[in-house]
Amino acid sequence: MIYITIDGPAGSGKSSVARSLAKELEFEHLDTGALYRVAALRWLRAKNREEEPDKFIEKMSFTNFELKDGKIFVNDIPLGNEIRTPEVGKVVSKVAEIPEIRDVITRKTRELAQNKRVVVEGRDIGTIVLPNACVKIFLTASVQERARRRYEEYKSKGVNISFEEVIREIKSRDRIDSTRKVAPLKAAKDAVLFNTDGFTLEEVVDRLKNLVMREIKKC
Ligand code: CDP
Ligand code: CDP
Repeated sequence: MIYITIDGPAGSGKSSVARSLAKELEFEHLDTGALYRVAALRWLRAKNREEEPDKFIEKMSFTNFELKDGKIFVNDIPLGNEIRTPEVGKVVSKVAEIPEIRDVITRKTRELAQNKRVVVEGRDIGTIVLPNACVKIFLTASVQERARRRYEEYKSKGVNISFEEVIREIKSRDRIDSTRKVAPLKAAKDAVLFNTDGFTLEEVVDRLKNLVMREIKKC
């Protein structure tokens, strides 16, 4: 097994970079943010049904996640764009603060990564989930730039949202993710930091690919 971890705040480029790196290296790719988004979507639905919070946590622990052909399957159903809405974006960090939910998703992430050559991205992968990873990367970018990227992404998908709302979502998630008690967003001591402001996706991937190729030989 070889683990490469990519952590960083929303819009720093984790998913795009992880996907490209995994393709270039012929590794698998696991987006742990998607697992937290599944939990958030479940939480919204449980709230609508006025279900007890314990029931929602229990259901998450019995949920089966699989990684097949580069896609995440949840109880045998491929995950789609239903988790990438502003509604989910608004609540996901609150749900990700719940320690029992973090335990469940941390355990499931380790199971999914086990014995694989995989690029795993999230917030606490290099620090908590896979501390013995071969290469650790921490991506950043300014709030303005990250919000601009996310706004363009929403627009290209036809989501109706203002730039100000996107800035608010990103700032709010940054604050909750960086200050929570359990597994906050932070760079591992041995992570390579990369501020992607002013870099195109291709430039970021190119630089990181060279770094990973060099480092991987030492693992
Ligand atoms: O794609 P984006 O950067 O907007 O976020 P994401 O990676 O989909 O993650 C959504 C949320 O899940 C984050 O804002 C965190 O609250 C939470 N998360 C986490 O707590 N730990 C992780 N390893 C991954 C995501
Ligand atoms: O996963 P995370 O939220 O960290 O970021 P992402 O989903 O990979 O990137 C958000 C958007 O920014 C995507 O549409 C990327 O194509 C774009 N992006 C960019 O324009 N320049 C970069 N250096 C990185 C990402």
